[in-house]
Amino acid sequence: MAGSVKEEPRIRACTVCRDVRNFDLLIEDMEAVFADSWGELTFIETVSFLDDPEAADLELLAIALDDEDAAQTNLVRVIIERAAAKSIRVLLIAESLSPILLHQMLRAGADDFVPYPLPENALKDAIDRLRKTALAAAHAKIAPAQNGCNGTVLAVQSLAGGAGATTFAVNLAWELVQSQGKTGPSVCILDLDFQSGSVSTYLDLPRTEKVYEMLSQTSTLDTDAFYSALQRFQEKLHVLTAPSDMLPLDLLSPDEIERVITIARDSFDVVVIDMPRTIVHWTETVLSAAQQYFALMELDMRSAQNTLRLIRALKADGLSMDRFHFVLNRAPRFTDLGGRSRAKRMAESLGVSFTTFIPDGGTQVRDANDHGLPLAEFAPKNPAAKEIRKLALTLAPAKSAEKIAAE
Ligand SMILES: Nc1ncnc2c1ncn2[C@@H]1O[C@H](COP(=O)(O)OP(=O)(O)OP(=O)(O)O)[C@@H](O)[C@H]1O
Ligand SMILES: [Mg+2]
Repeated sequence: MAGSVKEEPRIRACTVCRDVRNFDLLIEDMEAVFADSWGELTFIETVSFLDDPEAADLELLAIALDDEDAAQTNLVRVIIERAAAKSIRVLLIAESLSPILLHQMLRAGADDFVPYPLPENALKDAIDRLRKTALAAAHAKIAPAQNGCNGTVLAVQSLAGGAGATTFAVNLAWELVQSQGKTGPSVCILDLDFQSGSVSTYLDLPRTEKVYEMLSQTSTLDTDAFYSALQRFQEKLHVLTAPSDMLPLDLLSPDEIERVITIARDSFDVVVIDMPRTIVHWTETVLSAAQQYFALMELDMRSAQNTLRLIRALKADGLSMDRFHFVLNRAPRFTDLGGRSRAKRMAESLGVSFTTFIPDGGTQVRDANDHGLPLAEFAPKNPAAKEIRKLALTLAPAKSAEKIAAE
């Protein structure tokens, strides 16, 4: 379908060239990586498509050029610059292009290039590299806190009931506390699941009246009032449990939620938020405050369908998916090839990619939760604990100079 963009399913990538039939190996490789979620555009079509809001969802432009395209250099440069401005990755596929031209394109903002005819797996490898650098850039965006100011916000939400968000949030928070020995970051976990929040259960802390008192006075909330509602787990992790009574999720307005998060960020290096499973009218507030928003899923139809609904809802509200990290919980192990390929197919059909895989940790996970202990304290070698630990190490903010000096 040269010269048009497919409507369904969601387009994640486009080839851009004079005539895609000149690059038939590219068609095969794009199909292998993106299945049906890619389209074909000419140079002119791309310029107008980049103005379309739909273009914001694009992950990649694969611009294929040969020596007959020398006359189009300026147009191609405009495309590359506009794509770069929208954080769309640009991969050049170049057939007998002069080194000078190639150099100009890379300087305009193209991320990488592969020669044409494409060597085996070259397109897939280049795309994998681009995805890795995109993820690393997202991690790098986490600003280290300066003396407890401007902490990093990491939000966690289950896309299906029981998919493991609270387990993930509690263990991530505890691994972050432990991540740098004695001088690890100060961490606070906020249980904003006012109805069925179970952070208190998983850390064996009581649900106190103080939380409701604090939440009902958010208009005058200050740091002291916030601290008085917090409890501590093993003296290190600060916890705002859900209130003792089941409260409506719209108890707080978006402004009030923002105030709680702002005060928490002012006081802690990292703020982990356990979100309710449903989308609420302050989900957007948390989404804008969070540097990373982890969405927990399992390898089942329920998670897949909820993910599609979530993506649709966010799109309808014009919200970006940039900060979303899809986490596959109870993920198949590396040796489970069938399970791995089901996970891959699920990600492809949803148009998302999983950034973290947490394996099934068996009954130890439930037992750790029932004992009110993080896995690191109950079963530190549990495979689920190990994966969450690895993630925590990549997320821990850099130590401040004062902390290094204090060691
Ligand atoms: N990786 C895992 N391996 C084994 N068991 C797990 C894993 N993750 C979570 N569980 C178990 O699954 C159950 C549900 O977990 P959790 O409460 O964290 O889910 P949730 O998404 O927060 O649920 P809710 O929708 O109620 O908020 C718990 O019993 C927990 O111990
Ligand atoms: Mg939960």
